[in-house]
Amino acid sequence: MNATLSRDVLIRRLAAATRAMGLYTRGHPHIDRNVSALSDACAAWLQESPSLVIGFLDSEIVVDSAPVRQSGGTLTGLARTLARHNIDKISLFRGLTKDELRAALEIIAGRNGGPDGHDAVASRLGEAGVRHVTVGTISLEETEPQPPGIQGAIRVYDSAMRTAETFWETTRAGQPPDTQSARKAINGLAQVVTDDRPSLMALTTLKRHDAYTFTHMVNVSVITMAVARALGVEAGLVREFGLAALMHDIGKSQTPLEILNKPGKLSHDEVPIIKRHVVDGAELLWQLPDMPPLAAIVAFEHHLRQDRTGYPEAARPRRLNLCTMIVSLADVFDALRTHRPYRQALATDRVRAMLAEQNGTAFHPTLLKRFITVVGLFPVGSLVRLDTGVVGIVTHEHPEDVFRPQVKVILDAGGHRLDEPYLLNTWERDADGACAPAVTEAIDAEEVGLDPLTLL
Ligand SMILES: [Fe+2]
Ligand SMILES: [Fe+2]
Repeated sequence: MNATLSRDVLIRRLAAATRAMGLYTRGHPHIDRNVSALSDACAAWLQESPSLVIGFLDSEIVVDSAPVRQSGGTLTGLARTLARHNIDKISLFRGLTKDELRAALEIIAGRNGGPDGHDAVASRLGEAGVRHVTVGTISLEETEPQPPGIQGAIRVYDSAMRTAETFWETTRAGQPPDTQSARKAINGLAQVVTDDRPSLMALTTLKRHDAYTFTHMVNVSVITMAVARALGVEAGLVREFGLAALMHDIGKSQTPLEILNKPGKLSHDEVPIIKRHVVDGAELLWQLPDMPPLAAIVAFEHHLRQDRTGYPEAARPRRLNLCTMIVSLADVFDALRTHRPYRQALATDRVRAMLAEQNGTAFHPTLLKRFITVVGLFPVGSLVRLDTGVVGIVTHEHPEDVFRPQVKVILDAGGHRLDEPYLLNTWERDADGACAPAVTEAIDAEEVGLDPLTLL
């Protein structure tokens, strides 16, 4: 279906159905005809994309971020109804049934009476069992510009951490978590992945927080989005990947804490309990109406491995989707280089070697190559030793040669702190054609007692 045309049709049918609700008594065939027509248009749309957001901004109506042409005031009634409730955003999600749509319209068109306001409407939708339609306001927060550079990236990263934590705790408590705020966090991260990938990737390499669970959620999401973007995945889908990645381990919120945080190896009986997080996660995510189905799929598949020798065992004969493949890589990559109670963090190059060892069994070989190019051998923020023995921090990656970053040299060859650190482009040659010193290895920050964040 032509997207612009279907936008117009959809919004006109929404207006017509809302109007019919206001004009005719319940059960009138005119209502049914209008709801059916709208339901068909929504179904067609939701077949192509997991959700549909209709926004009302002043006099503009926007369907999935594209404006809709208005003719002859057909939409004024709809706009007025929504303005009365202070609703400026209606979101529809895949799985929406005609009955649900009818119930939602009855509430929005005000046939049930009751107080106005989008909160009141939202809670009545919940009471009526409507799970695939949500209403709200377009908050200013979503478009709030962030300061550029590492400080801006830190703000977005830390706010995503808090969202991840709240989502996790709410889920652990058995309450329905707020998917919209998770989406908002993803939008923020996706924006920085687009605008300033090096800063955000640097944050995923730095250990600024003790809360492994939530940094892991955010790191896997950021890395997944960066890789997906580099692979040419379309922006909307990149965000779906990011959300799915953020949620990949959410099933662990059901794992007993003594097993989840156990230092040392799990016992024979404990292994199946931790493995259950893939099924728990998929079930949990599947039940959230505004969570894309992709999230449940990725949660279910992320330990299956490329050769499908992983778990859950019953699912082995399936093909993995691209998002699962990227998330699995990002998951192992992040877990290996992060401090865990039972293991010291590993420097990036060791992580790389371990990933390469598993090439073709755990991961798709071509994807692995691309992954390493994107994540970088020596991402910005990593500490490295050069062949002259000096130690520095990577400040820029070379666009083509991942082996030759720009380094700010901090320690001399004897390990003494320099009074005046200097920048070194390891890709440059001197007048005689000799190369600048080359990076030989990545090193752990603790090993040399430096805090990368203060050095950038
Ligand atoms: Fe996992
Ligand atoms: Fe994980």
